[in-house]
Amino acid sequence: MHIAALLLLCTGLAAAVQGCTVLELTGAGFAANAVHVLHAYTLFSQNNGTLYLNSTEFQYKCANEGGWHDFFDFTATNGSMANYVPEADQAETCAIYTFHDVDLLLHNMNYDWFSIDTAAAKKVWRFTKWVQDELDPVLEELAQMPAPRMGFHIRGGDKLTEDVQLSRMTTRPEDFIVTMAESFPHLNGGTCIMVGDDQEWIAEASKIAAATLGCKTFSKTLFHIATGGSHDQETFNHESFETKCAGTLQFLVDIELLNHADYFVGTTNSGLPHIVDVLRFAVYNKDRGTFVDASFRHQDWYSRMLRYWKSRGPQPRRRLLTRRR
Ligand SMILES: *[C@@H]1O[C@H](CO)[C@@H](O)[C@H](O)[C@H]1NC(C)=O
Ligand SMILES: *[C@@H]1O[C@H](CO)[C@@H](O)[C@H](O)[C@H]1NC(C)=O
Ligand SMILES: *[C@@H]1O[C@H](CO)[C@@H](O)[C@H](O)[C@H]1NC(C)=O
Repeated sequence: MHIAALLLLCTGLAAAVQGCTVLELTGAGFAANAVHVLHAYTLFSQNNGTLYLNSTEFQYKCANEGGWHDFFDFTATNGSMANYVPEADQAETCAIYTFHDVDLLLHNMNYDWFSIDTAAAKKVWRFTKWVQDELDPVLEELAQMPAPRMGFHIRGGDKLTEDVQLSRMTTRPEDFIVTMAESFPHLNGGTCIMVGDDQEWIAEASKIAAATLGCKTFSKTLFHIATGGSHDQETFNHESFETKCAGTLQFLVDIELLNHADYFVGTTNSGLPHIVDVLRFAVYNKDRGTFVDASFRHQDWYSRMLRYWKSRGPQPRRRLLTRRR
């Protein structure tokens, strides 16, 4: 009876296993796309079919038919993930998933983002050779800089408009530095890696960091993108492929600098720090307690844990265990 029910369940599951899946990338920011690639890889690499990425609307590309595959190598996925090429795959009927579909699925399965995304990170975060060749000398240069190497992702640009729309408190340049200094009071000297989309804010943050932490600023601008200044997604999406290609590479250089930093502070008002948190832990073996959130929510696990113990006052409230020697 029980075995029969179990068998029925198994066949039911097998029948429900779909073949290939297409994930529709979008014209939103890089982080929003990357997080859904991570989600989808974990979800669909277990379903006995290839996960195809449709980069038609994805703006981080070097040519019209380019996309995620311009920068990332699929070989580590062993055929579980590939670029969607319409003609070649027409014979196969795949299930099409939008970001919303993926979010809903994860929500219904009750998985949290961190566990889902760390499961995919090692396979997904592999660069194509030309990207890795550009990254290596920059990372080499960073390795020569004095420790501790502290990474700052200073996000201004169109986040400020978004903050107003969402009535959300803005994370300002001084918030990043103060959060770093207060979370890790022993930090002094070393290198402050300044990364972000807003040149004015980076300059301001660098000045405050030098005064507060006594660090030397490190920032690597490979390209001077004509539109410069600060990031605006609409403007970026209308650039030439040459600019988008160079801009994406610059962005990946910035992410890799943060991934290799000893400490990292960002704002969870932006999607990028989550990706960096995941990659630092899952790909680069960093202690998770070295990432803190400078936003007004301070919702990294390290800060939340400190707040919890502080709010409880002197310990212990529980039964004491007396150890006999
Ligand atoms: C995987 O897909 C193949 C081809 O569609 C099918 O024959 C096989 O039964 C599937 N395996 C599982 C475990 O669903
Ligand atoms: C790929 O995306 C484009 C643009 O959104 C869409 O028109 C096309 O139908 C998609 N193809 C597949 C197979 O999902
Ligand atoms: C890669 O896929 C092939 C064919 O499905 C399989 O035989 C092989 O074991 C896989 N390799 C790894 C490392 O998973």
